[in-house]
Amino acid sequence: MTDAAGFSERVERVSISGIREVFEAAGEDAINLGLGQPDFPTPDHARQAAVEAIEAGKADAYTSNKGTLELREAIAAKHRRDNGLDVDPEDVIATAGGSEALHIAIEAHVDEGQEVVIPDPGFVSYEALTHLAGGEPVPVPLRADLTLSPAAVEEAITEDTALFIVNSPANPTGAVQSPADMRAFARIADEHDVLCVSDEVYEHQVFEGEHRSPAEFTERDNVAVVHACSKSYSMTGWRLGWITASTDRVERMLRVHQYAQACASAPAQYAAEAALSGPQDGVDEMRAAFERRRDVLVDGLADMGLDCPTPKGAFYAMPEVPEGWVDEVIDQGVVVVPGKAFGAAGEGYARISYATDMTEIKEAIEGMRAATEATR
Ligand SMILES: Cc1ncc(COP(=O)(O)O)c(C=O)c1O
Repeated sequence: MTDAAGFSERVERVSISGIREVFEAAGEDAINLGLGQPDFPTPDHARQAAVEAIEAGKADAYTSNKGTLELREAIAAKHRRDNGLDVDPEDVIATAGGSEALHIAIEAHVDEGQEVVIPDPGFVSYEALTHLAGGEPVPVPLRADLTLSPAAVEEAITEDTALFIVNSPANPTGAVQSPADMRAFARIADEHDVLCVSDEVYEHQVFEGEHRSPAEFTERDNVAVVHACSKSYSMTGWRLGWITASTDRVERMLRVHQYAQACASAPAQYAAEAALSGPQDGVDEMRAAFERRRDVLVDGLADMGLDCPTPKGAFYAMPEVPEGWVDEVIDQGVVVVPGKAFGAAGEGYARISYATDMTEIKEAIEGMRAATEATR
């Protein structure tokens, strides 16, 4: 059914992310703590691999729909190295970022009216992609420490549930789920025979605890894992991610990917292969830098009396803030994102990204302090 203007009901249920509006309100000179991308360059060996592929004429043509075999082998090797998972390169689809991986997972598993259980607050795409697939998002409010409770997820599952999404380390909260939680998510997926989509794009940004995947624990292949080079290798502009799942699920997701995308960008695939198989010290350097910035930001927030569970991963903090705080911070020339942009339960919170250099973070803290005094 379409409305009078001829647009689908699905697309009318989605609007452009609230994050954009904040950028526009803040003006050009603002310190931007709203962005979800690392402020580091892409590793040189990854850039060079793309340049060499282009110059050798290797990047001119479509690749296999799933991506080059060499990239998928590098992805399988990464899963063995980092996650202890045995992944068949045939069970991998290289996608246009983690975003497309989420899109094909939801398209391939959600029927009209079916439910998708998502964290609230959670990454903005979960709700929007569910609407675009004709599904119903079922938001699950987080625990006080901003992690997602397996019990609350299980309670939200009905016979109409197609899948649930777990994101650790999480955007917008910086929370990291415990290994026990990850095991519980796998059990829930297996017992209810629903898919768990595990969004692990921030896996390398863990400062406390450890990153584990529910894919390690599923006994019935009910976990699809979403990854990307975007955050791990500072490659947001390259648009290269992937999804891995059981063979039958991959075959269904490939049907969506094949018609929507054909294949991920070939130059980006060469860059990603080099990023995944080359030296990993850049990853560690970024993590160490984020951790230092996190400490400064969290101390600053505590010092102004704002309540903020210490983020254990990603590069976001999510304090509870007084009414009017976000607008006041923006007036002080600092961009942060209102928590409600990530779901109704985000009301009263703000997401602060610390993927910005230390000098700017320190300056921004002073703006936040002034805003806190003004709104108390
Ligand atoms: C939790 C989460 N998942 C997926 C993505 C999408 O990543 P990509 O840029 O690789 O599409 C993002 C981007 O911000 C994210 O925060």
